[in-house]
Amino acid sequence: MASGRGSNARALIEYCSSLENLNNEIKWNICAVISDRPNAGVLEIATDLGVKSVSLPYPKGQAANAVERRTKYSNELANKIKQIGEELSHPIDFVICAGFMKILTRDFLVCFKDPKLPFYRVLNIHPSLLPAFAGANAYEDAFHYGVKVSGATTHFVDEQVDHGPIILQQYFERKADDTIEDFKSRGLSVEHPLFIKTLKNIQNNKLRFISSDNERLFVKVLED
Ligand code: GRF
Repeated sequence: MASGRGSNARALIEYCSSLENLNNEIKWNICAVISDRPNAGVLEIATDLGVKSVSLPYPKGQAANAVERRTKYSNELANKIKQIGEELSHPIDFVICAGFMKILTRDFLVCFKDPKLPFYRVLNIHPSLLPAFAGANAYEDAFHYGVKVSGATTHFVDEQVDHGPIILQQYFERKADDTIEDFKSRGLSVEHPLFIKTLKNIQNNKLRFISSDNERLFVKVLED
């Protein structure tokens, strides 16, 4: 799922396409790209790369109805994903948020809960070193705060925004003369390989889960 330009989605689709010829191994197959914005560049990218693209516009309305709209949209999304799985005669195993700028409800997440696993099978990438600079404008917020180092984080999605168990993080340096555009583009060049590495680690069963004393789930990633 993605809301915008789609550079992360492109990187993931290209990576997953490179797995097509693997035999007898667990591999990722991206079944569809769904966007809440009908004009998002990501839909065109998906189509060009041979992936089903689905526009599912977010309902418009007053801020006062935000919760209602979120609930309605999350239900529509869950139904759409279920339908895509039915068309393929295979349920969708994972949802990947690649620059998806809408908040999901618990009911949505529960659709992707395997009782044997301690997390929802929903992944996200966030363009900061969480828990610093959660929220929709992480690059801008970090840059204007004056950080010397920032980064990207991949994590499982939970009920709170940009909060779930962290899988991988990668830092990058802010250079003295960076403009916000330089900073963002250095960040993106870190995001794409980090997201691919995250998929690889899941595919190769490299994640282990440890409950911490504060009941936060820690993700240990086994080295190659
Ligand atoms: C990325 O920076 C992602 O981390 C953030 O939104 C941006 C999406 O970029 N959540 P793109 O659409 O993948 O190019």
